[in-house]
Amino acid sequence: VSHAYRAGIFHCLADPTSTATPEEAYEYYADGILVINDEGKVERLGPADQILPTLPSGFPITTYPNAIITPGFIDTHNHFPQTEMIAAFGEQLLDWLETYTFPTESKFQSLEYAQQVAGVYLDELLRNGTTTAMAFSSVHAESAEALFKEAYQRDMCLITGKVLMDRHAPETVRDTPEAGCTQSRTLIEQWHGKGRLHYAVTPRFAITSTPEQLEAAGHLLKEYDGLYMQTHLSENHKEIAWISELFPERCHYLDVYDHYGLVGPRSVFAHGIHLCEDEIQRLARQDAAISFCPTSNLFLGSGLFNLKQMKQHKVKVSLGSDVGAGTSFSMLQTLNEAYKVTQMRGDKLSPFESFYLATLAGAETLQLDDRLGNFLPGKEADFIVLDLHSTPLMQYRMNNCNNVFETLFVLCILGDDRNIKETFVKGISRHQRDQATH
Ligand code: GUN
Ligand code: FE
Repeated sequence: VSHAYRAGIFHCLADPTSTATPEEAYEYYADGILVINDEGKVERLGPADQILPTLPSGFPITTYPNAIITPGFIDTHNHFPQTEMIAAFGEQLLDWLETYTFPTESKFQSLEYAQQVAGVYLDELLRNGTTTAMAFSSVHAESAEALFKEAYQRDMCLITGKVLMDRHAPETVRDTPEAGCTQSRTLIEQWHGKGRLHYAVTPRFAITSTPEQLEAAGHLLKEYDGLYMQTHLSENHKEIAWISELFPERCHYLDVYDHYGLVGPRSVFAHGIHLCEDEIQRLARQDAAISFCPTSNLFLGSGLFNLKQMKQHKVKVSLGSDVGAGTSFSMLQTLNEAYKVTQMRGDKLSPFESFYLATLAGAETLQLDDRLGNFLPGKEADFIVLDLHSTPLMQYRMNNCNNVFETLFVLCILGDDRNIKETFVKGISRHQRDQATH
């Protein structure tokens, strides 16, 4: 049923670094009303004193004091089977994969086990205000099947795919080019376009796929409409050195993916920390996206992403938690680390750009900005209520904020799951902090 929500309301209209002034890139109503229709879509929004008199008498309104409503967060890179291995000690990427990741992911050949973890993972996303995710499953078709099933039950917009991985990994997490393709096709036919679900062809990275498998992945992408491609790119120096040994005929890491037809407007590359000039230019030219994963990049000691350089080259960038190399499901905590990474680079990430990265930029990366990312009328009503008084410190600090810039910045630095008072998916409440049992 139609419903109105009253609180502060903030949403982005554009990339604040692309407009003449940052103020042109967002709308903020200190006392706003968001009206949702009975299809779970945004009807309209505006200041309460303008909207209230136009609502029919008895129209249901929920009011949230000391709160800001924003679009739900969009996490453009993470791994659902790694939920249980966040905070694995001491290794950088390649050793971390061997020591922790592959053994953990090997458990996901069991559909039952995968479904149990998928439920925990999706509930954790919702608890953190993330309503859309692009996720890796494991190599097992069962894992993608489980995640699709659980996301479908929650009516969430979710993109995943079974990982393609046919070398340089233990047998328990390997497939073959043929099996990888057949299983992907079955999943695509069953799930791609069902409800709010989409399929992503998912070669883990070029180290763990043979040239034959990468070629098959490229063919698969051309076979069906609207598929995504997700993989990892240029995260770690040892990884990059190994890539040049494995593909000596390719001029750089991105050229490997490009050669197999994996670079395009629906491709999302996680990390992209150590790219050369030509790689950056090609990403921009081919309209491919990078998912910036600051908590992961710091945790694995991978390096400092150069956001400013990507922006200057007009590469699409959004935000990823990269759980379980990432250390938090919270996009607010992810923005906290993102801010520090830009500081280390001599830049500063404004809270307007931060919220853009976590919402509208994610929708643009996934080419879902006609449906998600802000509150333009007709968009799907995935939104969250951010509690500004979630802890004594938060309340005290917020009372000393003078404007929306400062309020949002404090949320980006101090914020976490405790700020997520309520999460709505297509107009339906799917998480309420005060009623949660955990
Ligand atoms: N590169 C290849 N696989 C992975 C993974 O699971 N996590 C991260 N962070 N990087 C990867
Ligand atoms: Fe990753």
